Amino acid sequence: MTGMFITFEGPEGAGKSTNLTIFAEALARAGCPALLTREPGGTPVAEQIRGVLLADHEEPVNPDAELLLVFAARAQHLHALIRPALEEGRVVISDRFTDATYAYQGGGRGIDPLRIAALEEWVQGSLRPDLVVVFDVPVEVGLERARARNALDRFEREPTAFFESVRGTYLSRAAADPTRYRVIDASGELPEVLERMQPIIDEVLERWRA
Ligand SMILES: Nc1ncnc2c1ncn2[C@@H]1O[C@H](COP(=O)(O)OP(=O)(O)O)[C@@H](O)[C@H]1O
Ligand SMILES: [Mg+2]
Repeated sequence: MTGMFITFEGPEGAGKSTNLTIFAEALARAGCPALLTREPGGTPVAEQIRGVLLADHEEPVNPDAELLLVFAARAQHLHALIRPALEEGRVVISDRFTDATYAYQGGGRGIDPLRIAALEEWVQGSLRPDLVVVFDVPVEVGLERARARNALDRFEREPTAFFESVRGTYLSRAAADPTRYRVIDASGELPEVLERMQPIIDEVLERWRA
């Protein structure tokens, strides 16, 4: 595959979606039109699965059912959108991907990461993001931003301990593989965050032109 696969990660309200737009605009201005997508979702069928994942349900959702739905959506997303775009040589940027599964279903829900790794292998084969940009904020800052943004979904209403675990999982995964991960302190104002993203934008453009 010749394209470049970039994912934006981090807890609720870290600024992934906001900064993804800014990041993509900077790439586009430099002549690199990226394909933007998100998880769970990214195709019509995968977006329907997203609806099931984020909605409130009368019955408790079994963590394994949740995990399998996440990977069902991901299989469709990879097949119908991500792989074809990478094969065309495009830069693909996804708002969340499998690191979010390790953080939420693993760290948050307590599922053994080895089970997640088995599904990752099955659904993705050897495909991994070329670059994972982790937006890091203290849990309370992120939740405060998310609360101000809209009504909270099924995940956003989890207790603080859940999000501490999500954050910790992201940070330890990033620390274990510094060549593929970049952690951005996203607690400041947006211009500050953009300043911290700039070296990554430059790096992507450099690799894109090479
Ligand atoms: N650095 C920032 N400072 C203040 N507010 C921010 C910052 N980044 C994002 N926001 C605001 O916080 C909310 C959550 O941002 P969003 O990009 O939706 O986060 P995420 O996609 O990570 O959940 C939005 O209303 C956004 O405008
Ligand atoms: Mg978002």
